[in-house]
Amino acid sequence: MPKIRIEGGHPLSGIIPISGAKNSVVALIPAAILCDETVTISNVPEITDVDDLENILIHLNAQIKRTKERVEINASNIINKEITETLSKKLRASYYFMGAMLGKFNKVDMYFPGGCSIGARPINLHLKGFELLGAKITEEGSHFIIEAEKLKGNKIYLDFPSVGATINIMLAAVKAKGKTVIENAAAEPEIVNVATFLNNMGAKIKGAGTNTITISGVRYLHSCFHEVIPDRIEAGTYLIMGALIGENLKIDNIIPNHLEALIAKLKETGVEMEIGLDNIVIKETNKYKATDIKTLVYPGFPTDLQQIMATFLTQCHGKSIIEETIYENRFQSLLELQKMGANVKIRKDNRKATINGKTKLHGTDVNSTDLRGGASLLVAGLIASGTTTIDNISYILRGYDNIVEKLQKVGAKIEII
Ligand code: EPU
Repeated sequence: MPKIRIEGGHPLSGIIPISGAKNSVVALIPAAILCDETVTISNVPEITDVDDLENILIHLNAQIKRTKERVEINASNIINKEITETLSKKLRASYYFMGAMLGKFNKVDMYFPGGCSIGARPINLHLKGFELLGAKITEEGSHFIIEAEKLKGNKIYLDFPSVGATINIMLAAVKAKGKTVIENAAAEPEIVNVATFLNNMGAKIKGAGTNTITISGVRYLHSCFHEVIPDRIEAGTYLIMGALIGENLKIDNIIPNHLEALIAKLKETGVEMEIGLDNIVIKETNKYKATDIKTLVYPGFPTDLQQIMATFLTQCHGKSIIEETIYENRFQSLLELQKMGANVKIRKDNRKATINGKTKLHGTDVNSTDLRGGASLLVAGLIASGTTTIDNISYILRGYDNIVEKLQKVGAKIEII
């Protein structure tokens, strides 16, 4: 199994270009099957989650042409058949085929999705939405058959503004008869990107980016060209690296507005940044003070940056408290960070952790526990003394486009071994 090896202490300077957003593209690709003409998606990141979705499309007989940063999908000949357990479990986002297949064929036959083990991650809200649209769900273990004679618009209130449930309901409702209203919908930028894609194909979706989304069903979706928004979590990861070991590092091709919570928190600790229209340059600073963070739905502090921020907080002076409100099990990487010398205490209920800084980190062998946990260790490895070797890197490659190459270009001593 390949590992990532990092020799710490080498400053990063130059420009890091940010790729398309993982959590957007993983919904756009399944959404494309709702259309019977060719759709083109650009700014597609090279990540293994995209490869896994492509394999599902191939399994369903869709035609795909993938070139660098671009994918063309024609789903006019796709077959309504079971998405096998192996394919379903490869990634979390396979669940978007539930909404997309339901929207296209009124039926989907697949399994519970995979993904990082950061909590229970049920899909009850997705299923509740499908039921309210008229679908019947047959569930046996992890196998689901969801079918409807006819999908009909309805009012759907989400008990929690789930990103996955909001997008999945949009996908199922786009061609349903009549009007669907999602109340307490998630408002993440990725939702807006998916709604824009569907609207570009002729869908009638209003309110994406707010907590009430209205979808008026249409009969036909047509060909379109669509660009994936920049990945705000990838950008945030590199911003944190820049604050820790950058020399005027520029994070390019981003939407700074999408990063407001992180920018505010970094400023609180003393990080100085020059914020441009589509880039941020992190100024050289050396002394940061502790701060507290609490993860929340957008525009709150993103859970996907919590673990990476934890690495940053080990370098801030004083006591920082992290509160994780979205997932029940997203502190596993902190135990790996401890092996590198971090002073971390996790409360018994796994919801709060305290970090006392500043501590020197030293390289050692660590395990990537999940995608963002792996990234947090990679950041730690860049600033640690000596060599850090990270195992289980397939998690990291799921969601970071060419991370090793991007870092090598700005001066990091990092390689896959
Ligand atoms: N939840 C339910 N029932 C549901 C759906 C969600 O109880 O039916 C709970 C979850 O258990 C969790 C919370 O609601 O506690 C949030 O889940 P949400 O549905 O919003 O998340 P998701 O769709 O599973 C996506 C991203 C995650 C990201 C979250 C929150 C994808 C494929 N995944 O997950 O990304 O953390 O939204 O922003 O888009 C990552 O990139 O590292 C990652 C985990």
